[in-house]
Amino acid sequence: MGWVWRTCAATLGLGLATVSLQGVARAAQPSASAGARVEIVADRPGARIDRHLFGQFSEHLGRGIYEGIWVGEHSPIPNTRGFRNDVIEALRVLHVPDVRWPGGCFADEYHWRDGIGPRGTRPVTLNTNWGGVPESNAFGTHEFLDFVGLIGAEAYIDGNVGTGSPREMAEWLQYMTSDKPTSLTAERARNGHNGPWKIAYFGVGNEPWGCGGDMTPGYYVELFRRFATFLKAPDGARPLIVAAGGHDADTSWTEALVSKAADKADLISFHYYTIPGVKWSAKGAATGFGEGQWISTFAHALRMDEFIAKNSAVMDRYDPAKRIGFAVDEWGTWYDPQPGREPQFLYQQNTLRDALVAALDLNIFMRHADRVRMANIAQMVNVLQAMILTRGPKMILTPTYHLFRMFTPFQDAVALPIDLQAPQYTLGEVTVPGLSASAAKTSDGRVILSLVNFNPHRAVPVSVGTHGFVVRRVSGEILTAAAMDAHNTFESPEAVRPAAFTGARLTHGTLELSLPAKCVVVLSLEQEGRSVSGR
Ligand code: AHR
Repeated sequence: MGWVWRTCAATLGLGLATVSLQGVARAAQPSASAGARVEIVADRPGARIDRHLFGQFSEHLGRGIYEGIWVGEHSPIPNTRGFRNDVIEALRVLHVPDVRWPGGCFADEYHWRDGIGPRGTRPVTLNTNWGGVPESNAFGTHEFLDFVGLIGAEAYIDGNVGTGSPREMAEWLQYMTSDKPTSLTAERARNGHNGPWKIAYFGVGNEPWGCGGDMTPGYYVELFRRFATFLKAPDGARPLIVAAGGHDADTSWTEALVSKAADKADLISFHYYTIPGVKWSAKGAATGFGEGQWISTFAHALRMDEFIAKNSAVMDRYDPAKRIGFAVDEWGTWYDPQPGREPQFLYQQNTLRDALVAALDLNIFMRHADRVRMANIAQMVNVLQAMILTRGPKMILTPTYHLFRMFTPFQDAVALPIDLQAPQYTLGEVTVPGLSASAAKTSDGRVILSLVNFNPHRAVPVSVGTHGFVVRRVSGEILTAAAMDAHNTFESPEAVRPAAFTGARLTHGTLELSLPAKCVVVLSLEQEGRSVSGR
């Protein structure tokens, strides 16, 4: 059970109270009217928004890989070399920048040699973290790298520190990247791949504070230095090295790594999951929740901003030039197990609420784009906050999938500063900012603006000013639904899907719009009269 080590939310001070953070903009008091004002400073470009902020994570867990991605060549489900065609096609649309694999907790018990060679001869091992089920190892290194190639993504491999050795990890990287005639590369060729692969990122362990080995920061730093020393690859082909870091409010892992291993790490990882409840043992349900759980989910998700800010401040002390990136390589919502499902498989439904959490988190990452260079939502298919759910030959796209598709124009755009003044949203004792927003300029000169309204009852009139950019055309999309827990099912797969947004008006260069209750809107603003569709 990978999650038993996670610190209980209650001990992290996640009690419900006023949360005065903003996803992207400066927090502001409610204006006299019920309206909001967004000022985009289009002529003061900020950091580039690394497309890897939109990365994903797929672990050997439940039906995430087996069934969700891999069905085998002989499956009646239409597939390419064993990978589901429907899933590949859907993922290609998202321009997934990278996929993290094989875990998670699974990574620190994964021995890569179990997953190479003829499939019929691979050992069947035990997935001790996720249900104690047999692991066929049918999906191994070659399959993963074939899969990321099929969806057009880069590879983020997470190596085994917990039960592995420096030699095992070093040889795995050599097996994948070496261009020299060695026994390892000959074996790679015999297994079907002649030349080297490009590995963009290599992680040294996972959650060393818990399932990755229950270590202290100091002990892990020593191990990280040792393992990373042997991670060698041909010139220009060495992946960026990710050190496994901390989680939630704890900055001690970041501090230990940035102060004692800055010469060996390119990124420091961090994990934070959003639960609606105040304790890990009663997280809350994925569907059928009330408004109390709706607002508490956003109150808890907003803490991502504070956690990143604190870790960034620590990193700034040792790395003011910001050479080392911060990688939120596990994030997303985590609910109580769905009744009737294997509790260890972490399958959960995905509602409009999840899409709003994703928008909020992505806005936060973009606000910190100067330091956050990578983020990986957990997880891609059938596990936690998934893009896609499958049942036999059927597949549905979740609201989170649609949100990721709507946000694709932000990939590699340049963040623009914005000032957001908006009414707050209060329920009982809990107050959160009513809106979250972010803006960026794309390489083709458009300004992209995302707006999230957390209030499930009230539409908010918004006026948008664009300093240094005269808006001539606007187009956009909206994701919303009648119910807070609206979701897609195999019987009704299109209950929640984006629609064209027609609520924006341009008057004398000022953009006015009415932002409906509980929605995400993404607008594309153009200076010239060129037609751009957000879809
Ligand atoms: O994503 C599920 C699990 O959450 C991962 O295996 C682990 O790293 C984290 O605790």
